[in-house]
Amino acid sequence: MAATLTFLGIESSCDDTAAAIVRDTPGEPPRILAETVIGQGALHADFGGVVPEIAARAHAERLDLCAEAVLARAGLGVRDLDGVAVTAGPGLIGGVLAGVMFAKGLAAAAGLPLVGVNHLAGHALTPRLTDGVAFPYLVLIASGGHCQFVLVEGADRFHRLGGTIDDAPGEAFDKVARHLGLGAGGGPAVEAEARAGDPARFDLPRPLLDRPGCDLSFSGLKTAVLRATETLGPIGPQDRADLCAGFQAAVADVLGAKARAALALAGGVAVFAAAGGVAANGAVRAALGAAAASAGVDFVVPPVRLCTDNGAMIAWAGIERFREGARDGMDLAARPRWPLDDRQAGMLGAGRKGPKA
Ligand code: KG4
Ligand code: ZN
Repeated sequence: MAATLTFLGIESSCDDTAAAIVRDTPGEPPRILAETVIGQGALHADFGGVVPEIAARAHAERLDLCAEAVLARAGLGVRDLDGVAVTAGPGLIGGVLAGVMFAKGLAAAAGLPLVGVNHLAGHALTPRLTDGVAFPYLVLIASGGHCQFVLVEGADRFHRLGGTIDDAPGEAFDKVARHLGLGAGGGPAVEAEARAGDPARFDLPRPLLDRPGCDLSFSGLKTAVLRATETLGPIGPQDRADLCAGFQAAVADVLGAKARAALALAGGVAVFAAAGGVAANGAVRAALGAAAASAGVDFVVPPVRLCTDNGAMIAWAGIERFREGARDGMDLAARPRWPLDDRQAGMLGAGRKGPKA
Protein backbone atom coordinates (compact mmCIF):
# COMPACT_ATOMS: atom_id res chain seq x y z
CA MET A 1 0.00 0.00 0.00
CA ALA A 2 1.28 3.47 -0.90
CA ALA A 3 2.55 5.64 1.91
CA THR A 4 1.05 8.77 3.41
CA LEU A 5 2.73 11.80 1.86
CA THR A 6 2.95 15.30 3.36
CA PHE A 7 4.14 17.99 0.95
CA LEU A 8 4.86 21.70 1.21
CA GLY A 9 3.68 23.58 -1.91
CA ILE A 10 5.15 26.92 -2.98
CA GLU A 11 3.53 29.29 -5.51
CA SER A 12 5.05 32.59 -6.69
CA SER A 13 4.40 32.79 -10.44
CA CYS A 14 2.38 36.00 -10.49
CA ASP A 15 1.32 38.41 -7.77
CA ASP A 16 0.41 36.06 -4.92
CA THR A 17 3.03 34.51 -2.64
CA ALA A 18 1.42 31.30 -1.41
CA ALA A 19 2.35 28.22 0.58
CA ALA A 20 0.37 25.24 1.86
CA ILE A 21 0.88 21.83 3.36
CA VAL A 22 -1.18 18.95 1.97
CA ARG A 23 -1.30 15.42 3.39
CA ASP A 24 -2.47 12.50 1.27
CA THR A 25 -3.22 9.17 2.92
CA PRO A 26 -4.29 6.49 0.43
CA GLY A 27 -7.91 5.54 0.96
CA GLU A 28 -8.77 8.88 2.58
CA PRO A 29 -9.58 12.27 1.06
CA PRO A 30 -6.44 14.45 0.94
CA ARG A 31 -6.25 17.14 3.61
CA ILE A 32 -4.97 20.71 3.46
CA LEU A 33 -3.22 21.01 6.83
CA ALA A 34 -2.40 24.71 6.49
CA GLU A 35 -2.42 27.38 3.79
CA THR A 36 -1.50 31.02 3.40
CA VAL A 37 -1.54 33.59 0.61
CA ILE A 38 0.06 37.03 0.73
CA GLY A 39 -1.30 39.15 -2.13
CA GLN A 40 0.58 42.05 -3.67
CA GLY A 41 -2.36 44.18 -4.81
CA ALA A 42 -1.27 47.24 -2.84
CA LEU A 43 2.30 47.11 -4.21
CA HIS A 44 1.12 47.28 -7.83
CA ALA A 45 -1.97 49.47 -7.38
CA ASP A 46 -0.35 52.65 -8.71
CA PHE A 47 0.88 50.99 -11.91
CA GLY A 48 -2.30 49.61 -13.51
CA GLY A 49 -0.88 46.08 -13.65
CA VAL A 50 1.64 43.71 -12.09
CA VAL A 51 5.22 45.09 -12.24
CA PRO A 52 7.47 42.02 -12.63
CA GLU A 53 10.47 43.42 -10.73
CA ILE A 54 8.34 44.52 -7.78
CA ALA A 55 6.59 41.15 -7.77
CA ALA A 56 9.86 39.18 -7.80
CA ARG A 57 11.36 41.17 -4.93
CA ALA A 58 8.22 40.83 -2.83
CA HIS A 59 8.14 37.07 -3.40
CA ALA A 60 11.81 36.77 -2.39
CA GLU A 61 11.08 38.67 0.82
CA ARG A 62 7.98 36.68 1.74
CA LEU A 63 8.54 33.07 0.70
CA ASP A 64 10.26 32.04 3.92
CA LEU A 65 7.58 33.79 5.99
CA CYS A 66 4.86 31.88 4.14
CA ALA A 67 6.63 28.53 4.57
CA GLU A 68 7.28 29.15 8.27
CA ALA A 69 3.67 30.21 8.79
CA VAL A 70 2.16 27.05 7.29
CA LEU A 71 4.58 24.76 9.14
CA ALA A 72 3.71 26.49 12.41
CA ARG A 73 -0.04 26.35 11.73
CA ALA A 74 0.16 22.66 10.83
CA GLY A 75 2.25 22.02 13.95
CA LEU A 76 4.96 20.43 11.82
CA GLY A 77 8.70 20.80 11.41
CA VAL A 78 10.59 20.56 8.12
CA ARG A 79 11.51 16.96 8.99
CA ASP A 80 7.85 15.96 9.05
CA LEU A 81 7.61 16.73 5.33
CA ASP A 82 8.06 14.12 2.59
CA GLY A 83 8.79 16.61 -0.16
CA VAL A 84 8.74 20.17 -1.46
CA ALA A 85 6.71 21.07 -4.56
CA VAL A 86 7.19 24.38 -6.32
CA THR A 87 5.72 26.16 -9.33
CA ALA A 88 8.50 26.01 -11.93
CA GLY A 89 6.46 27.87 -14.62
CA PRO A 90 4.74 29.26 -16.56
CA GLY A 91 4.73 32.75 -15.09
CA LEU A 92 6.64 35.95 -14.52
CA ILE A 93 10.19 34.65 -14.54
CA GLY A 94 11.51 36.64 -11.57
CA GLY A 95 8.79 35.31 -9.30
CA VAL A 96 9.12 31.74 -10.56
CA LEU A 97 12.90 31.95 -10.00
CA ALA A 98 12.41 33.23 -6.46
CA GLY A 99 10.15 30.26 -5.67
CA VAL A 100 12.37 27.67 -7.34
CA MET A 101 15.50 28.98 -5.56
CA PHE A 102 13.71 28.97 -2.22
CA ALA A 103 12.41 25.42 -2.75
CA LYS A 104 15.84 24.15 -3.84
CA GLY A 105 17.46 25.67 -0.77
CA LEU A 106 14.91 24.12 1.56
CA ALA A 107 14.98 20.71 -0.13
CA ALA A 108 18.79 20.61 -0.12
CA ALA A 109 19.13 21.76 3.48
CA ALA A 110 16.49 19.34 4.78
CA GLY A 111 17.37 16.43 2.49
CA LEU A 112 13.88 16.38 0.98
CA PRO A 113 12.79 15.42 -2.54
CA LEU A 114 11.99 18.34 -4.85
CA VAL A 115 9.18 18.29 -7.45
CA GLY A 116 8.73 21.11 -9.98
CA VAL A 117 5.08 21.69 -10.91
CA ASN A 118 3.47 23.34 -13.93
CA HIS A 119 1.20 26.07 -12.52
CA LEU A 120 -1.57 25.13 -14.97
CA ALA A 121 -1.31 21.49 -13.88
CA GLY A 122 -1.89 22.77 -10.34
CA HIS A 123 -5.16 24.40 -11.45
CA ALA A 124 -6.12 21.41 -13.63
CA LEU A 125 -5.59 18.82 -10.86
CA THR A 126 -7.39 20.81 -8.12
CA PRO A 127 -10.74 18.98 -8.68
CA ARG A 128 -8.97 15.79 -7.53
CA LEU A 129 -7.81 17.51 -4.32
CA THR A 130 -11.21 19.00 -3.52
CA ASP A 131 -13.60 16.39 -4.89
CA GLY A 132 -11.60 13.24 -5.60
CA VAL A 133 -12.51 13.40 -9.31
CA ALA A 134 -11.24 10.38 -11.27
CA PHE A 135 -9.37 10.58 -14.60
CA PRO A 136 -10.34 11.38 -17.30
CA TYR A 137 -12.24 14.64 -16.89
CA LEU A 138 -12.61 17.96 -18.68
CA VAL A 139 -11.44 21.17 -17.02
CA LEU A 140 -11.75 24.80 -18.04
CA ILE A 141 -8.87 26.91 -16.70
CA ALA A 142 -10.03 30.55 -16.90
CA SER A 143 -7.86 33.14 -15.21
CA GLY A 144 -6.14 36.48 -15.72
CA GLY A 145 -3.58 35.00 -18.09
CA HIS A 146 -5.09 31.79 -19.42
CA CYS A 147 -8.20 30.28 -20.87
CA GLN A 148 -8.19 26.70 -22.08
CA PHE A 149 -10.28 23.56 -22.13
CA VAL A 150 -8.10 20.63 -21.10
CA LEU A 151 -8.87 16.92 -21.08
CA VAL A 152 -7.03 15.61 -18.01
CA GLU A 153 -6.08 11.97 -18.56
CA GLY A 154 -3.42 11.59 -15.86
CA ALA A 155 -1.29 13.60 -13.42
CA ASP A 156 1.05 14.36 -16.29
CA ARG A 157 -1.22 13.75 -19.28
CA PHE A 158 -3.09 16.77 -20.55
CA HIS A 159 -4.79 17.24 -23.90
CA ARG A 160 -5.67 20.81 -24.81
CA LEU A 161 -8.94 20.87 -26.77
CA GLY A 162 -9.09 24.63 -27.35
CA GLY A 163 -8.55 28.01 -25.79
CA THR A 164 -8.52 31.75 -26.28
CA ILE A 165 -7.01 33.10 -29.46
CA ASP A 166 -6.33 36.51 -27.91
CA ASP A 167 -7.07 37.79 -24.38
CA ALA A 168 -7.82 35.72 -21.30
CA PRO A 169 -11.27 36.41 -19.79
CA GLY A 170 -9.83 37.64 -16.47
CA GLU A 171 -7.71 40.12 -18.40
CA ALA A 172 -10.87 41.38 -20.14
CA PHE A 173 -12.65 41.69 -16.77
CA ASP A 174 -9.66 43.64 -15.41
CA LYS A 175 -9.53 46.02 -18.41
CA VAL A 176 -13.28 46.65 -18.35
CA ALA A 177 -13.05 47.36 -14.60
CA ARG A 178 -10.27 49.89 -15.10
CA HIS A 179 -12.02 51.53 -18.03
CA LEU A 180 -15.24 51.95 -16.05
CA GLY A 181 -13.40 53.54 -13.14
CA LEU A 182 -13.54 50.49 -10.88
CA GLY A 183 -9.78 50.72 -10.34
CA ALA A 184 -7.86 47.55 -9.64
CA GLY A 185 -10.99 45.76 -8.38
CA GLY A 186 -11.04 43.58 -11.50
CA GLY A 187 -13.54 40.76 -11.93
CA PRO A 188 -15.04 40.92 -8.43
CA ALA A 189 -15.77 44.66 -8.88
CA VAL A 190 -17.45 44.06 -12.26
CA GLU A 191 -19.51 41.24 -10.74
CA ALA A 192 -20.62 43.49 -7.87
CA GLU A 193 -21.63 46.31 -10.28
CA ALA A 194 -23.45 43.87 -12.56
CA ARG A 195 -25.92 42.97 -9.80
CA ALA A 196 -27.76 46.27 -10.33
CA GLY A 197 -27.46 46.21 -14.12
CA ASP A 198 -29.58 45.28 -17.12
CA PRO A 199 -27.60 42.77 -19.22
CA ALA A 200 -29.79 43.39 -22.30
CA ARG A 201 -29.37 47.18 -22.61
CA PHE A 202 -26.20 47.04 -24.70
CA ASP A 203 -25.92 44.78 -27.71
CA LEU A 204 -22.52 43.16 -27.12
CA PRO A 205 -20.96 40.47 -29.34
CA ARG A 206 -20.54 36.74 -28.54
CA PRO A 207 -17.26 36.15 -30.41
CA LEU A 208 -16.56 32.87 -32.26
CA LEU A 209 -19.93 31.29 -31.53
CA ASP A 210 -20.35 30.84 -35.28
CA ARG A 211 -17.22 28.68 -35.37
CA PRO A 212 -17.04 24.97 -34.55
CA GLY A 213 -14.64 23.77 -31.86
CA CYS A 214 -13.94 25.32 -28.50
CA ASP A 215 -11.54 28.18 -29.22
CA LEU A 216 -12.59 31.47 -27.67
CA SER A 217 -11.93 35.19 -28.08
CA PHE A 218 -12.44 38.04 -25.61
CA SER A 219 -10.56 40.93 -27.16
CA GLY A 220 -13.41 42.09 -29.44
CA LEU A 221 -15.90 41.90 -26.60
CA LYS A 222 -13.71 44.05 -24.39
CA THR A 223 -13.31 46.57 -27.23
CA ALA A 224 -17.10 46.60 -27.78
CA VAL A 225 -17.56 47.62 -24.14
CA LEU A 226 -15.00 50.41 -24.51
CA ARG A 227 -16.77 51.59 -27.72
CA ALA A 228 -20.15 51.56 -26.03
CA THR A 229 -18.84 53.93 -23.36
CA GLU A 230 -17.73 56.38 -26.07
CA THR A 231 -21.31 56.69 -27.32
CA LEU A 232 -22.59 57.56 -23.85
CA GLY A 233 -20.75 60.70 -22.81
CA PRO A 234 -20.26 60.92 -19.05
CA ILE A 235 -21.01 57.52 -17.52
CA GLY A 236 -23.55 57.42 -14.71
CA PRO A 237 -23.95 54.66 -12.12
CA GLN A 238 -26.75 52.94 -14.09
CA ASP A 239 -24.68 53.00 -17.30
CA ARG A 240 -21.80 51.41 -15.44
CA ALA A 241 -23.99 48.71 -13.93
CA ASP A 242 -25.63 47.94 -17.31
CA LEU A 243 -22.26 47.73 -19.07
CA CYS A 244 -20.89 45.41 -16.38
CA ALA A 245 -24.01 43.23 -16.54
CA GLY A 246 -23.90 43.10 -20.35
CA PHE A 247 -20.19 42.28 -20.44
CA GLN A 248 -20.46 39.60 -17.77
CA ALA A 249 -23.47 38.03 -19.51
CA ALA A 250 -21.55 37.91 -22.81
CA VAL A 251 -18.51 36.25 -21.16
CA ALA A 252 -20.78 33.74 -19.43
CA ASP A 253 -22.67 32.99 -22.68
CA VAL A 254 -19.45 32.43 -24.61
CA LEU A 255 -17.89 30.23 -21.93
CA GLY A 256 -21.12 28.25 -21.59
CA ALA A 257 -21.49 27.68 -25.35
CA LYS A 258 -17.83 26.73 -25.79
CA ALA A 259 -18.05 24.41 -22.77
CA ARG A 260 -20.82 22.53 -24.63
CA ALA A 261 -18.53 22.25 -27.65
CA ALA A 262 -15.59 21.11 -25.48
CA LEU A 263 -17.77 18.48 -23.77
CA ALA A 264 -18.75 17.13 -27.19
CA LEU A 265 -15.07 16.98 -28.19
CA ALA A 266 -14.04 15.37 -24.88
CA GLY A 267 -16.35 12.45 -25.63
CA GLY A 268 -17.80 10.62 -22.67
CA VAL A 269 -16.16 12.19 -19.62
CA ALA A 270 -18.20 11.99 -16.41
CA VAL A 271 -17.06 15.31 -14.92
CA PHE A 272 -16.59 18.88 -16.12
CA ALA A 273 -14.62 21.07 -13.71
CA ALA A 274 -13.73 24.74 -13.65
CA ALA A 275 -10.62 26.39 -12.21
CA GLY A 276 -8.87 29.77 -12.23
CA GLY A 277 -10.03 33.13 -10.87
CA VAL A 278 -12.81 33.65 -13.42
CA ALA A 279 -14.48 30.46 -12.15
CA ALA A 280 -15.19 32.48 -9.00
CA ASN A 281 -17.80 34.49 -10.97
CA GLY A 282 -21.38 33.50 -10.20
CA ALA A 283 -22.76 34.08 -13.73
CA VAL A 284 -19.87 32.14 -15.25
CA ARG A 285 -20.37 29.27 -12.81
CA ALA A 286 -24.07 29.15 -13.64
CA ALA A 287 -23.40 29.04 -17.40
CA LEU A 288 -20.78 26.31 -17.03
CA GLY A 289 -23.03 24.33 -14.71
CA ALA A 290 -25.86 24.54 -17.26
CA ALA A 291 -23.51 23.29 -20.01
CA ALA A 292 -22.52 20.33 -17.83
CA ALA A 293 -26.16 19.56 -17.02
CA SER A 294 -27.17 19.63 -20.68
CA ALA A 295 -24.40 17.12 -21.44
CA GLY A 296 -25.44 14.96 -18.48
CA VAL A 297 -22.10 15.26 -16.66
CA ASP A 298 -21.32 16.34 -13.10
CA PHE A 299 -20.08 19.90 -12.62
CA VAL A 300 -17.31 20.41 -10.08
CA VAL A 301 -16.06 23.81 -9.07
CA PRO A 302 -13.59 24.15 -6.21
CA PRO A 303 -14.09 26.76 -3.46
CA VAL A 304 -13.07 30.24 -4.60
CA ARG A 305 -9.82 30.29 -2.60
CA LEU A 306 -8.71 27.14 -4.44
CA CYS A 307 -9.81 28.51 -7.84
CA THR A 308 -7.47 31.49 -7.54
CA ASP A 309 -3.70 31.02 -7.18
CA ASN A 310 -2.74 29.08 -4.05
CA GLY A 311 -0.11 26.78 -2.56
CA ALA A 312 -2.38 23.78 -1.95
CA MET A 313 -2.84 23.08 -5.66
CA ILE A 314 0.96 23.03 -6.06
CA ALA A 315 1.49 20.72 -3.06
CA TRP A 316 -1.24 18.41 -4.41
CA ALA A 317 0.12 18.36 -7.98
CA GLY A 318 3.56 17.67 -6.45
CA ILE A 319 2.17 14.67 -4.55
CA GLU A 320 0.44 13.36 -7.69
CA ARG A 321 3.62 13.68 -9.75
CA PHE A 322 5.79 12.23 -6.95
CA ARG A 323 3.56 9.13 -6.80
CA GLU A 324 4.22 8.71 -10.53
CA GLY A 325 7.98 8.83 -9.92
CA ALA A 326 8.73 12.48 -10.70
CA ARG A 327 11.82 13.85 -8.90
CA ASP A 328 13.69 17.03 -9.75
CA GLY A 329 17.28 17.90 -8.96
CA MET A 330 19.16 21.10 -8.28
CA ASP A 331 19.08 21.70 -12.04
CA LEU A 332 15.28 22.27 -12.00
CA ALA A 333 14.72 25.20 -14.38
CA ALA A 334 12.30 28.12 -13.95
CA ARG A 335 10.30 28.42 -17.18
CA PRO A 336 8.44 31.57 -18.28
CA ARG A 337 6.51 29.51 -20.86
CA TRP A 338 5.51 25.90 -20.32
CA PRO A 339 2.54 24.55 -22.30
CA LEU A 340 0.54 21.94 -20.43
CA ASP A 341 0.09 19.93 -23.56
CA ASP A 342 3.51 19.91 -25.20
CA ARG A 343 2.15 18.17 -28.27
CA GLN A 344 0.73 21.63 -28.98
CA ALA A 345 3.76 23.72 -28.04
CA GLY A 346 2.92 26.49 -30.49
CA MET A 347 -0.38 27.04 -28.74
CA LEU A 348 -2.55 30.04 -29.04
CA GLY A 349 -4.08 31.64 -26.07
CA ALA A 350 -1.41 32.44 -23.52
CA GLY A 351 -3.24 35.77 -23.25
CA ARG A 352 -1.63 39.07 -24.15
CA LYS A 353 -0.83 39.83 -20.58
CA GLY A 354 1.86 37.22 -20.87
CA PRO A 355 2.50 33.93 -19.25
CA LYS A 356 0.32 34.36 -16.23
CA ALA A 357 -2.12 31.75 -15.06
O1 KG4 B 1 -6.29 32.42 -11.25
P1 KG4 B 1 -6.11 33.83 -10.76
O2 KG4 B 1 -6.20 34.08 -9.28
O3 KG4 B 1 -4.74 34.43 -11.11
C1 KG4 B 1 -4.11 34.49 -12.30
O4 KG4 B 1 -4.67 35.01 -13.29
O5 KG4 B 1 -2.99 34.01 -12.26
O6 KG4 B 1 -7.17 34.73 -11.57
C2 KG4 B 1 -7.23 36.13 -11.40
C3 KG4 B 1 -8.18 36.67 -12.45
C4 KG4 B 1 -8.22 38.18 -12.50
O7 KG4 B 1 -8.19 38.60 -13.84
C5 KG4 B 1 -9.55 38.51 -11.83
O8 KG4 B 1 -10.14 39.71 -12.29
C6 KG4 B 1 -10.38 37.30 -12.20
O9 KG4 B 1 -9.51 36.21 -12.13
N1 KG4 B 1 -11.48 37.13 -11.24
C7 KG4 B 1 -12.77 37.26 -11.56
C8 KG4 B 1 -13.50 37.13 -10.34
N2 KG4 B 1 -12.61 36.89 -9.33
C9 KG4 B 1 -11.36 36.89 -9.90
N3 KG4 B 1 -13.37 37.51 -12.73
C10 KG4 B 1 -14.72 37.59 -12.73
N4 KG4 B 1 -15.48 37.50 -11.61
C11 KG4 B 1 -14.92 37.26 -10.40
N5 KG4 B 1 -15.67 37.16 -9.30
ZN1 ZN C 1 -3.30 30.75 -11.81
